[in-house]
This record gives sequence, C-alpha cells and structure tokens, in this order.
Amino acid sequence: MSMNLYERIPNNVNLSGDKRLQRALEKWLPNYLDWWREMGPDGFQDKEVYLRTAISVEADGWANFDYIKMPDYRWGIFLKPADPNAKVGFGDNLGMPVYQEVPGEFRNALRRIIVTQGDTEPASVEQQRELGKTCPSLYDLRNLFQVNVEEGRHLWAMVYLLQRYFGQDGRDEADELLQRRSGNPDKPRILEAFNQPCDDWLNFFCFTMFTDRDGKFQLAALAESGFEPLARTCQFMLTEEAHHLFVGETGVGRVVKRTAQLMKENPHADVRELGAIPLDIIQRYINFWFSYSLDLFGGEISSNSADFFAAGLKGRYKEQDNYTEHTAANENFMLTVVEDGRLKQREVPLRNALNEVLRGEYVKDCERAMTRWNKSIRDAGLDTELYLPSMRFHRHVGEFTGHAFDVQGNIITTEAFEARRAEWLPSFADREYVRSLMHPVTEPGKIANWIAPPAAGIKGKPFEFEYVRL
Ligand SMILES: [Fe+2]
Ligand SMILES: [Fe+2]
Repeated sequence: MSMNLYERIPNNVNLSGDKRLQRALEKWLPNYLDWWREMGPDGFQDKEVYLRTAISVEADGWANFDYIKMPDYRWGIFLKPADPNAKVGFGDNLGMPVYQEVPGEFRNALRRIIVTQGDTEPASVEQQRELGKTCPSLYDLRNLFQVNVEEGRHLWAMVYLLQRYFGQDGRDEADELLQRRSGNPDKPRILEAFNQPCDDWLNFFCFTMFTDRDGKFQLAALAESGFEPLARTCQFMLTEEAHHLFVGETGVGRVVKRTAQLMKENPHADVRELGAIPLDIIQRYINFWFSYSLDLFGGEISSNSADFFAAGLKGRYKEQDNYTEHTAANENFMLTVVEDGRLKQREVPLRNALNEVLRGEYVKDCERAMTRWNKSIRDAGLDTELYLPSMRFHRHVGEFTGHAFDVQGNIITTEAFEARRAEWLPSFADREYVRSLMHPVTEPGKIANWIAPPAAGIKGKPFEFEYVRL
C-alpha cells in the first residue's frame, strides 16, 4: 500500500494527521477493491464512464464531472463542515453541546445503526451488478454506475465512522461489511429488502425509487443526530442520495409514460404485443418494493426508537425545520394494531411511535411521486391509475407480520391472500416477461422500446451524449 494513501483519498477528516485511521484504512482498502472487482458491476470496469466525483463539501462546487473508469473512482471521506456551536437538537439532552465521541451507554446500539446502514450500501451494488448488460440506453447505464460508485462511497462513509470511533470492534465490523453477500443463504445482508434480486431494470427503478428512499429518511433522521460525526456524515450522503432517488422516480415515471403512450396510440392492442410493460405488472412491482421498503423503518411500536430519541441520537425527519417542540415527551400517537384478529386503534407515547412517524413521512413522499406518474397516464387520456398499497399489505416486520391484508389494508385470511397473490405481487411469469424485454441498447441517442427518454441529460449534456465509451 502506498505511503501517500491519504493523498489519494479525497477527504476533509484530516486523514493525513490521523495515523490510527490511516493504518485501519490501509488494511481495509485492498479488501474493498477486491470486493468491488468481485461483486461490483459485471463487465464495463475498463470502460470510461461520465461520472461525478465528490471533491469537496462546498454547496456550489462539491462535484467534478468527467470520464473515469470505475475502479479508478476516487472514493473519499467527506463530512459536512462542523458547526462549533452545535447543540443536541432534541430529546432529554436538548440544548447540550453535541457529542464528539460515542456516548458509552449507546455504544452498541449506535454501532448497530451504523453497521445496518453501512450494510445496505454494498448490498445494493451486489443486487445491481448484472444490470449493465441489459441497459436501455447509455444515459441509464451511466446512471446505474453513478449510483453504484456512490453506494461504494457511502460504505466508506460508514466504515470511516466505525474505524474512527469504535476501536477494534468497529474495525471488525468494517471487515464484515465486505464479507456478507446479498441473497447469500449463509452470509446474507442484514435487511431483507437488500437480499431480494434486482435483476431487471424495472426492479432497479423501483429499488432506487422505494428502497433508496427509505435511505433518505433514515439518513435524514441521523443527520439530526447529537453524535456530531454521524450527523455530518449523513448530511453529506444525502447530497448524493438525491440523484439516486431521481433515477428511481424518473425511471419508473418513464416506463409508465412509455406504456401509456403506446396504449394511447394503439387502443385495441395488447401492451405486451407492443413490447411495453403493462401497467398491472408495474403496479405489482410497486406493491413488492413499497412493502419491503416499509419494513426497513422497523416496528410500529419500538422502545429502541424511544431510547434513541431520548438520547439525542436519532431525530425525526427535519426535526429542526418541521417541529417546534423537540422533547416529544408528553405527546401520544394513535396507531392501528391487530388485536384478536381485528384492527384496533391504540394510543402509545409518541417516542415509542417514531418509526411509524418516519414511515409516514416516507409514504407522503412516495404519494407525491405517484401523483406525477398518474399525471402521465391521464395526459395520455387513459382512465386508470397506479396506487400505493396499504401500509399493512405484505409486511414482514412489525405489528402486521403474520397477518394477511389486501391492498386496501383489510384483514383477510392467508388462503384468501394466497388466492390473490398473483394479482398483487409479481409472479414468475411477470418477471420472465419483464426480463424478456431487457436487451442492451448502447448506441448514443438510442433507447429501448419499453421506456421513454429522459426529459434532460446529465449536467447539461443532451440525451445523445456518449455517457459511456464502450
Ligand atoms: Fe447510499
Ligand atoms: Fe442510494
């Protein structure tokens, strides 16, 4: 490993002055690169891709756009600049100076949060590694690789926290982040959404729309943290994450738009014969990824969420901007739960319902995107709509686990659910059909038949730009 490691790793964490961190990173970096070669995008590693690289944290010049080969991407460590007067913004320690080291009694829990967040980053790269071979356009191929290298950088961000603030067990956790594998039965990734196959582009767009969007809300809640290094790390990650969500939201939107357009032009034809993805298949993909993503927020009633908020470690979404009362100590929250096989309302202390509060913010954001997608269906003169299923539908974590619900959220029997499964969730035949459309289109300016071109290119470039040099 070269002597000037810290010069090759763009950072604003004084890497050159921190010998212990250098040693830890020097050990970890070759393993990271091995992982990238083994589990990163399959193929294309020697191709030049028009990528943005984070080079600073200045709002107006943080990113540099240029052609680069992915293995040469300069993964770096960036935290939003510190505010010397920062105070804990919520909970029992409201108004105290922020923590510069991990509060002892929360060490294990905080490490778990960072490991769980960190685990999602390489997992998504693994899930997406085959997609390059079937890209619908060079523009989309470039976006896929942009998401991939930045998820790699987000792993770095979490590894930095583990190595810098958690000693030997943090370093061990950093190693294990490179050892688990998405979907591997013996050493799976921690969260279930990150073990699901993501092997076609509709899956990719739904994943970046719904699953990455969970990341946005988790990062936003941690960006409020009183543990300042975590807050500043997450604040900068959110800057990059916005593009991933854009890729997902506009990706699904472009698929919907194309299908609607073809349906309008050929009112009597079968959408499949037109080579597009039927809206009912898109709906089932939405149901699948939305429900798995809701699970990522955790149980509806959670003493962990209460402890974390009380300690000032994990806040609400936009805690400072959207709330005036920051203790959340004397309020209650009304939840729907299952009791004796029926839906009941239950009032719980607000602090115990903060997972559900965050999930509610997430759902609002998803509804906003639904409205936009439905607009393109309406604009094509079609009388149909896509929808979000009930928050109770197809859940595997929390209050509704073990009970069956229809997409409206009515409790039903397991048999009734199974009888309608293929109506609500992607079937093998759906997946086979979507896969049958996935043929690479790699000529600049060309695009696959099943998706509409984007409204604009990247960084002011036109859609026809050669985003990847093949
Ligand atoms: Fe990420
Ligand atoms: Fe992301």
